[in-house]
Amino acid sequence: MSDRRDFFGKVLGAYAGLGALGALYAAKRTWDPLPSVKAAGFTTLDLSNLEENKLYVEKWRGKPILIIKVPKDAKPDGAPNGNNENAYDDKRLITVGGHKFMIVVGLCTHLGCIPDYFPEKKKFICPCHGGQFNAAGEVLKAPPPSPLVIPPFKIDGTKVVLGEAGPEYKKLKEAGLVA
Ligand code: FES
Repeated sequence: MSDRRDFFGKVLGAYAGLGALGALYAAKRTWDPLPSVKAAGFTTLDLSNLEENKLYVEKWRGKPILIIKVPKDAKPDGAPNGNNENAYDDKRLITVGGHKFMIVVGLCTHLGCIPDYFPEKKKFICPCHGGQFNAAGEVLKAPPPSPLVIPPFKIDGTKVVLGEAGPEYKKLKEAGLVA
């Protein structure tokens, strides 16, 4: 019995791995490098020249970080849970240089796959089990149990330092908007 469980565990693991690889491949085609500086667990991102509604990906402590300069109209197309609220009004967005950004860890809160962003639909769809998030990282469709996670950050002019909990991050935490 335990052999059988091992076998199914391996098959499931391989399947999830393939899903993650597929997601990485699909996302790689649309990723754009971002000017960034890395040092001792901190990653500094320069957000001054980002295009709206385009997915940028960075790496911080081995995790993918997803960044979107959220457009004023970021209503998701066909949100399955009926949440068609404009993601631009979401309190989890980070304002830098007068623009609003979504900055999240790019691992689905269900089982850790990397969600793909569909700019024309203004939402993420997770390739593993179909979970969906809006452009602010809020859940539109289960199974993800919670929004995409906001990493500790500090705003420094038009730059953001990942790994340092600045006052803006602490405010979100006090409001219960970050894990
Ligand atoms: S890992 Fe994303 S929906 Fe399951």
